[in-house]
Amino acid sequence: MKTKTFNLVVLIWLLGSLSAVAQKESNQILYGPYLQNMSPNEVSIVWVTNKTAVSWVELAPDDGTHFYLQERPKTFAANNGIKTEGRIHAVKLKGLTPSTKYRYRVFSQEVLNHEGTRVTYSARVASTTAYETLTFVTNDYSKNSMSFTMVNDIHARSGVLNQMLQLAEPLKNDLVFFNGDMMSSIENEEALFNGFMNVAVKSFAQKVPMYYARGNHETRGAFASRFQNYFSPLNPNLYYLIRQGPVCFVVLDSGEDKPDSDIEYSGITDYDAFRTAEAEWLKEALKSKEFLEAPFKVAICHIPPRKDWHGEAEVLNKFVPLLNEAKIDIMLSGHLHKHVKEASNSQVHFPILINSNNSFVKGSATTNTLTLEVIALDGKKTDSLTLSK
Ligand SMILES: [Fe+2]
Repeated sequence: MKTKTFNLVVLIWLLGSLSAVAQKESNQILYGPYLQNMSPNEVSIVWVTNKTAVSWVELAPDDGTHFYLQERPKTFAANNGIKTEGRIHAVKLKGLTPSTKYRYRVFSQEVLNHEGTRVTYSARVASTTAYETLTFVTNDYSKNSMSFTMVNDIHARSGVLNQMLQLAEPLKNDLVFFNGDMMSSIENEEALFNGFMNVAVKSFAQKVPMYYARGNHETRGAFASRFQNYFSPLNPNLYYLIRQGPVCFVVLDSGEDKPDSDIEYSGITDYDAFRTAEAEWLKEALKSKEFLEAPFKVAICHIPPRKDWHGEAEVLNKFVPLLNEAKIDIMLSGHLHKHVKEASNSQVHFPILINSNNSFVKGSATTNTLTLEVIALDGKKTDSLTLSK
């Protein structure tokens, strides 16, 4: 009996200690920061903390002054005048100058309690010290050249992604595309970051922007509907135009590959209506100055247009006529897990480069030449394509 009482006391003490440790766990940045939706005048910065917090970004020009020369301007994560409290933080920096390098730090401060109008906070946590600030360079339509890397169909093989990024050296590029199916399904936040984003953040995404074209596998899993909390979080849509120098990229979301009524989707999808709305947006986007004046026009679309599966046919019927009319130079796709190069034909008036799941594409452009190289995991170039004006 005495032993039982002793064990019970020890158990209660252990539980109490564990609870105290849990309560004392400090606020930390779990994931990120990383750049999203870079343009000549704006960029969004995203990161995740373990505690509910308010957040902001400090910004400084890259002018040789010490970060501590003066208090740097802060931009807060806020909505309708109230600072946003949450674990996923997204701040849009506006009014930036094109082709300009900036330094930044992100901050989060845990919100401990609200009592009437009184709010209690914990200590602040920052991405870096002032001696190790992160940097980015804004886009510029008038740049004479640009370069990019595209990967796709990684399916949470973070080691393969790491291998590709080591070969691609994206820090030497203007931008990186993730062209869909980076995961097989999205079950939770931890899986999302362990699957590919932690590798991306470590490799380049704090300094070079990543643009995401959603694939048909990011649409699956219990966490799939939260996708936009992390990617393009302050944009209206997951499809958009991105212009850097001589190239305007039309980033499309091709949705799911089977009919919405398919048994595999359990009645949770509505992609036909989604793609119809996207086509309406596309029709207007293709009339924009940034698109019309770009020497090269490139569509980024995970599912290539074909007649076989429903999603492929939707791309063919809803997007391709508009892209034909807008005289797109080429479409870059994935999805098939094999390398395919398709020439233009009577229905699709532009070539399509379908990248496999075990290679990446290195792109570079001037105002009169666009070169695409396909690089295998051993670093060898397996194919290339040059378009000239
Ligand atoms: Fe796919």
